[in-house]
Amino acid sequence: MKAKEIFRTDKDIPVLAAPMAGVTDHSFRTILLENGADCVYTEMVSCKGLLYGNQKTFELIKTDGKMRTAVQLFGHEPSDFMKAIDVLQKRYDDLLLFDINMGCPAPKIYKEGDGSALLKDPALAMKIVEAAKSVSAIPVTVKMRTGIDSSLYDYTGFASGLERAGADAVTVHGRTREQFYSGSSDRNKIREIKEALSIPVIANGDIFSEEDAFSMLEDTGADGIMIARGMLGDPFIFGRIRNRLEGKETLQPSPEDKTEVIRRQYLMAEEEKGEYTAIRELRKHLVWYVKGIRNAASLRNRALSIENRSELEGLLRELLIRFREA
Ligand SMILES: Cc1cc2nc3c(=O)[nH]c(=O)nc-3n(C[C@H](O)[C@H](O)[C@H](O)COP(=O)(O)O)c2cc1C
Repeated sequence: MKAKEIFRTDKDIPVLAAPMAGVTDHSFRTILLENGADCVYTEMVSCKGLLYGNQKTFELIKTDGKMRTAVQLFGHEPSDFMKAIDVLQKRYDDLLLFDINMGCPAPKIYKEGDGSALLKDPALAMKIVEAAKSVSAIPVTVKMRTGIDSSLYDYTGFASGLERAGADAVTVHGRTREQFYSGSSDRNKIREIKEALSIPVIANGDIFSEEDAFSMLEDTGADGIMIARGMLGDPFIFGRIRNRLEGKETLQPSPEDKTEVIRRQYLMAEEEKGEYTAIRELRKHLVWYVKGIRNAASLRNRALSIENRSELEGLLRELLIRFREA
């Protein structure tokens, strides 16, 4: 399958919004789709959480009705992935694909044998993909890093194994587990994986601008790109990248566009989670949205302490003025 078929888009080069734990909830995913992301990923979802019927786990998965939401799963037992996919397929009929997390470096995930720990056991990683594929009615993809630490690691061999096991596409963040976010995403390694595989390869890591997107595609030959930190406080990046890829002039969002996006994101979250939780979860997004404004320390502090909707409206009025000045 070509990338555009897997990600169900009419664009030859899909631009995807990455899974981000604690960030990509339904309201933010909706904003990302509305601003040009070709598809969005849920936060990573525990297979075990789904199997135990944990309500909080299910809250991470709210779909858009248009098959543009990918669910990212983590775990390490092939049978858990099969059962989790079965549970999800019975409950949702509009999921885009299942993605398997083989990249998360967080100690609490790694020590359970999940996320990037799977890079240490290619045979198990392949069994997981085979198991997922045996029950899934939609594509199964994998998101990986390029190794555990600075020792030699056969990342092309690992990715080729995933392909043989039936993965429909692989997303590569060109860092090792040990690097977390230090150094940079290694484009040479992504290109080597792209050259070794016949399935689509999505390049991820350090795309913060249209120029980064363009050069990432040039340097790696990847079939698509995925953006994580670059979309924080800037969901408009997807529109800008699409324009750049199509050779069109880049449009900058107006101050009104920016404040309206924040309000909309909040209102959706409020409807789903209530004012108390929605306000608290919005705080970190507000800090990202004000990044780039000069002398924003006081705005940042205010953003971190807002308590309710009316304080948010006050902050948005001030933000509108500050965005206009910028
Ligand atoms: C706060 C945060 C949460 C993340 N959560 C996930 C996750 O749930 N699943 C995953 O595969 N990657 C996760 N990532 C990694 C990103 O998806 C991405 O691979 C990484 O940030 C590199 O891309 P970037 O340079 O565009 O940020 C997370 C990253 C951050 C910063």
